[in-house]
Amino acid sequence: MSILVTGGAGYIGSHTVVELLNIGQEVIIIDNFSNSKPEVLDSIRKITGKDFKFYEINYLNREALEKIFEENKDIESVINFAGFKAVGESVEKPIEYYTNNISGALVLLDTMRKYGVKKFVFSSSATVYGNPERIPLTEDCRIGGTTNPYGTTKLYIEQILKDIYKSDNSWDIAILRYFNPVGAHESGLIGEEPKGIPNNLMPYIVRVAAGMLKELSVYGNDYDTPDGTGVRDYIHVVDLAKGHIKAIEKLNKEKHGLFIYNLGTGVGYSVLDMVKAFEKVTGKQVPYKIAPRREGDIATCYSDPTKAKNELDWVATKTLEDMCKDSWKFIQNRM
Ligand code: UFG
Repeated sequence: MSILVTGGAGYIGSHTVVELLNIGQEVIIIDNFSNSKPEVLDSIRKITGKDFKFYEINYLNREALEKIFEENKDIESVINFAGFKAVGESVEKPIEYYTNNISGALVLLDTMRKYGVKKFVFSSSATVYGNPERIPLTEDCRIGGTTNPYGTTKLYIEQILKDIYKSDNSWDIAILRYFNPVGAHESGLIGEEPKGIPNNLMPYIVRVAAGMLKELSVYGNDYDTPDGTGVRDYIHVVDLAKGHIKAIEKLNKEKHGLFIYNLGTGVGYSVLDMVKAFEKVTGKQVPYKIAPRREGDIATCYSDPTKAKNELDWVATKTLEDMCKDSWKFIQNRM
């Protein structure tokens, strides 16, 4: 039986494919390289010594998608990583974001229904909690109040999945709410490669340390946090990838259902904690300046990951040092 992975050449997708291949799972990847590179596929083969099927298509292309299901009758489940993910860009391009993320998910789900494939894992985000009702965030906290179209696509797709399950409870759906994924595979062969100047903290820090960017702007030091800078739940991408394996196992053994899990460590680190940890691990300086707050940012966001521990037997095991070390190794390999 195969698992279809959309966006399998992307950051979290590629790490998840590695974990799937490592446990002997047959994998079919689709990707249109809109935010990834074909070389990633070779890196996955190199890391695992295993192969997989690959189709270069856009998941909005219903005809091409149907052909894949037609050709691969053994597809049992789908993990959906396809989607645009840049918060700032989504504000500039709402139509593109809603079309790609929401219409794409609908085409995929409709095609799955047509071929009787009803196991689905969806990449959601802590962003659906908007301004957190309480910290740490549990899965039953209020959702909504997203501040950008990217976040709203995650919120809407969650609702779509709930409605689909309500209409037909022979589906098995796992919604995984990621906190802040960072790090890279320990081989240094795959990792996060944002196009242009990065928006996220860790990719920015590594580029400053590597001398590719001058200094980090710390967006605000007057938040109500221990050192005044924003606090987040950074999670190593390999831990996150392993969470998907556990989610698939859950869907395979449960009767049917829709399950929601936070995937985070449960620990919050500030921007300055991250800078200091990175400097300590790599021995590199990360010059920074304090800049005004970034619009749409919240002070503190971290998870309560207890539900995933109890129900999936999943916990994040990698340390902040691992996150820094592996991010650094990846960028050094690319220089
Ligand atoms: N930060 C800086 N300087 C930078 C970049 C970030 O100080 O150059 C700060 C931010 O203000 C924030 C923290 O570092 O306090 C983390 O910022 P990121 O941009 O790395 O991550 P966010 O928490 O803003 O957003 C991330 C993902 C979103 C997702 C969200 C879920 O990028 O996709 O987590 O909570 F929606």
